[in-house]
Amino acid sequence: MAQTIQTIGIANGGGDCPGLNAVIRGVVRAAILGHGWRVVGINDGFDGLIWTERTMALTIESIAGILPRGGTILGTTNRGNPFHYDVDEGGKKVTHDYSLTCLENARKLGLDAMIAIGGDGTLTIARDLGRLGIPIVGVPKTIDNDLSATEVTFGFDTALHVATDAIDRLHTTAESHGRVMVIEVMGRDAGWIALHSGIAGGADVILIPEIPFTIETVCARLRDRTATGKKFSLVVVAEGVKLPAQDPKGEPFPAPRPGQVGILIGDAIHAHLKQDVRVTVLGHIQRGGSPSPFDRILATRFGVEAVELVARGEFGRMVCLRAGEIESVPIDEAVGETRLVDPHGSMVRTARAVGIVFGDQ
Ligand code: F6P
Repeated sequence: MAQTIQTIGIANGGGDCPGLNAVIRGVVRAAILGHGWRVVGINDGFDGLIWTERTMALTIESIAGILPRGGTILGTTNRGNPFHYDVDEGGKKVTHDYSLTCLENARKLGLDAMIAIGGDGTLTIARDLGRLGIPIVGVPKTIDNDLSATEVTFGFDTALHVATDAIDRLHTTAESHGRVMVIEVMGRDAGWIALHSGIAGGADVILIPEIPFTIETVCARLRDRTATGKKFSLVVVAEGVKLPAQDPKGEPFPAPRPGQVGILIGDAIHAHLKQDVRVTVLGHIQRGGSPSPFDRILATRFGVEAVELVARGEFGRMVCLRAGEIESVPIDEAVGETRLVDPHGSMVRTARAVGIVFGDQ
């Protein structure tokens, strides 16, 4: 296989992430300049393998200028699993298995191999397409930084910069008004963005899914601050936190939808302290915009190494970062295990050492 590569496909799936275009650029430039291959962009996740008109030739010229651009020139989707593809047929949801169509179309498009960029879901699809017969390598992606096989994913650093900048801005207005500012950040089931941005932004309280908390403990910390003359406080909340069993009225907390958890916690703090509380839900701002230099570099390194894996015929593997070096692991090992914050790890200990409270003690 290694000697017969002439054309490769590249796809990205799941939520977009700053640095995706930098990976695409890295792949295209390394494939064309280093190996003389042709590169086909698969649009909208794997949809382009189902409907081949949704593909595009990627050339040195066509990708010019994309390195600093957020989003992805390929488009993406977090639906579109070819193995279980939901289609609306006359108002009814019908699920199709298009995986063999993908295999057939990969052949029609002349793809000798594919590179798939994504998080857990996309990499699982990539692994399964690989098992079906499409030689494939993976590149990890997510702002949540929760993939177990790599120390860091591109996109996380940019999201962290956005969240830290937001905390810095909230700091000054909180101080002016003597308010409690609650800021909800992304991260799905992991608290990495909240933990890192909370430390970087000097938060007073950080609430993460990995550490159960009570509103009383949070409010005790905020009261202490008031008692020592600090009239404002910053509370960073990860969107995936598990709410305590009861709200301040003794009622069960409602099951929050994304973007609501910060509001519920803000309301509960207000109910306890009767202090002015404002809530900011940062949302998709964390995913948008230009990638940081760190993410551009990591994404480029990942893209280039993915091409080298293809060149060496090392399929079914995913590039990763370990001790600062780009390595690879079997995709199978990389999927399915979420990397969570260790509640006893050094980052949490560092935060506690500087007085940050997690609401648990
Ligand atoms: O996984 C990345 C992420 O941004 C999470 O942090 C967040 O929970 C989710 O995606 C949001 O997904 P969507 O863009 O579908 O709302």
